[in-house]
Amino acid sequence: MAELISGYKRTKLCGEFRKTDIDKQVVCMGFVGKYRNLGNLIFIDVRDRAGIVQVSFDDSTPKDIFEKATTLRNEFVVCVKGIVRSRGSNVNKNLPTGEIEIIAQDLKILNEAEVAPFVISDDAKVSDVTRLKYRYLDLRRPSLQKILIMRNKITKITRDYLDSKGFLDIETPFLGKSTPEGARDYLVPSRIHPGEFYALPQSPQLFKQLLMIAGFDRYYQIARCFRDEDLRANRQPEFTQIDLEMSYVEKDEDVMELAEGLICEIFNQCLGMDLKVGSFRKIPYAEAMENYGSDKPDTRFDLKIKDISKTIEGTEFSVFANTLANGGSVRGINAKGLANLTRKQIDALAEFVKGYGVKGLAWVALKAEGTTSSFAKFMTDEQMNNIYKAMDAEQGDLILIIADKTQLVLDTLGGLRCHIADVYNLYDKSKFDFLWVTDFPMLEWDEEEGRFVAVHHPFTSCKAEDIPLLETDPGKARANAYDFVINGQEAGGGSIRIHNVKMQEKMFKLLGMSEEDIKNRFGFFVDAFKYGAPPHGGLAFGLDRLVMLVTGTDNIKDVIAFPKVQNASCLMSEAPSPVEDKQLKELFLDIKMPKD
Ligand code: AMO
Ligand code: AMP
Repeated sequence: MAELISGYKRTKLCGEFRKTDIDKQVVCMGFVGKYRNLGNLIFIDVRDRAGIVQVSFDDSTPKDIFEKATTLRNEFVVCVKGIVRSRGSNVNKNLPTGEIEIIAQDLKILNEAEVAPFVISDDAKVSDVTRLKYRYLDLRRPSLQKILIMRNKITKITRDYLDSKGFLDIETPFLGKSTPEGARDYLVPSRIHPGEFYALPQSPQLFKQLLMIAGFDRYYQIARCFRDEDLRANRQPEFTQIDLEMSYVEKDEDVMELAEGLICEIFNQCLGMDLKVGSFRKIPYAEAMENYGSDKPDTRFDLKIKDISKTIEGTEFSVFANTLANGGSVRGINAKGLANLTRKQIDALAEFVKGYGVKGLAWVALKAEGTTSSFAKFMTDEQMNNIYKAMDAEQGDLILIIADKTQLVLDTLGGLRCHIADVYNLYDKSKFDFLWVTDFPMLEWDEEEGRFVAVHHPFTSCKAEDIPLLETDPGKARANAYDFVINGQEAGGGSIRIHNVKMQEKMFKLLGMSEEDIKNRFGFFVDAFKYGAPPHGGLAFGLDRLVMLVTGTDNIKDVIAFPKVQNASCLMSEAPSPVEDKQLKELFLDIKMPKD
């Protein structure tokens, strides 16, 4: 710490002072946290990113300095010179610096501060809106400082790890070409090319593949990505990926092993865990959907989905019978030990599932004093017994059943099992659940667009044995694609890419693109594959989500210094905002406001 401020050099950060500093003359700088004036004694907390240290002004403090200290207020920026003393019997065990204090000999007020709109403390009850409007003050809170410091640690570990594996950090453009596939693009109008637009990258996907074709062999980037999509708890319109790509890989496992190495480094170094490469479970997509109704299953709790369509075949209960007749399925979960939920609680679960668009929730509670059920009266005893058997049910269990179109049933039960586990605390929230989901389908049918869309992205290769299916039954072909899932959240995903130009063209055609479309949107990309493309593959982790998991926050805004809110605006800078007519004119843009 060599900087001179008002003639003083900082000894170290406030939060770093310890017993070993006792009797030393030191200098600290920071914001005034607490301020207490007891008349002949003034205590202040001086805060910086490392923590706080107590500074005392007492009868050994020069008179003029003591006087100056009486003018201090919260958030003033100060420089204090003093002697470190033991706090004796007044140790504050909650503070790393709690055994010592600095007895002030000199005080410089480096800046004054108006009364802040809220107290800078992790305990202060302040609305999100106020916090985000004054984000620079919110960020002074120790909990947010800790998170951003951890974020820095994670990116440092990432860079060190990837560097040690021969990856080169190469930047790719922000101003790119709009190639709609996936989420909605953020567009930037061009002044020099009237009527034309750049698109901000949704990910560096095309560029990183081109870097492989360019011969860089291994690339990574801590890359900002932009997606104009509806925001949810773990989504931001601009977010960061740990993006990587490597040449001369053929199998999913080649990339997965490299990625596991990074996950081990991050979690072992940040949380003292003992994860090992090769120890992560792999669940094929089809199994994840069938058992957990999700391609990012949370397996910290069981609550597996069971298909009882066969079990109840022949039932006269119209809800079940009609569903089967219409090609749907009847599936359920066994909420073990929850038979004693009240009627109100069960009704709340029924309301929850209706949010997914299903018509109802059939239930049966196997209570000690007798079974209650919403639908048993429509079933024979034998049918009910068969359901219990199929569901592994015993006394104390609550069975929840949904009948509808299969995909909807799986989605809904997938959501319901997580909801129940959350509401009824069915798992240890401090444990981590890491797994891979593999064998994703290449394509899924988009009802709205009336065409296939890529499940991962259009550059993902097909499992060799499934290539013939692309001609006969494209929806069944499986991709060389993998997602990394932590605690039921998609933490990352990638694939082995197509590196054969014919195959890439075929893929675009399967996605409903004409020769013309391919040329217009991806011409440069397809061309590049004609000049020697090594086999390659890669993956991207969502950095923000990794930081959330490591720091244990469920709010993505906590891990981003200047985040956007639900409606994609920044409450502090008030972006987005109207611009001057002159600016619009330069861009040849006219704004037509919506009617209401
Ligand atoms: P994908 O679209 O799966 O893959 O993104 C990779 C990871 O980025 C994170 N993520 C997000 N995080 C916060 N806010 C968002 N809006 C958001 N969207 C995605 C997720 C996700 O797993 N180019 C490919 C990767 C590849 O194939 O190499 C890609 O972008 O954690
Ligand atoms: P009803 O005959 O409509 O009163 O339905 C009897 C029971 O079946 C009620 O508990 C409903 O909530 C339930 N139910 C209705 N539709 C479905 C459905 N699609 N899947 C599962 N249960 C349903």
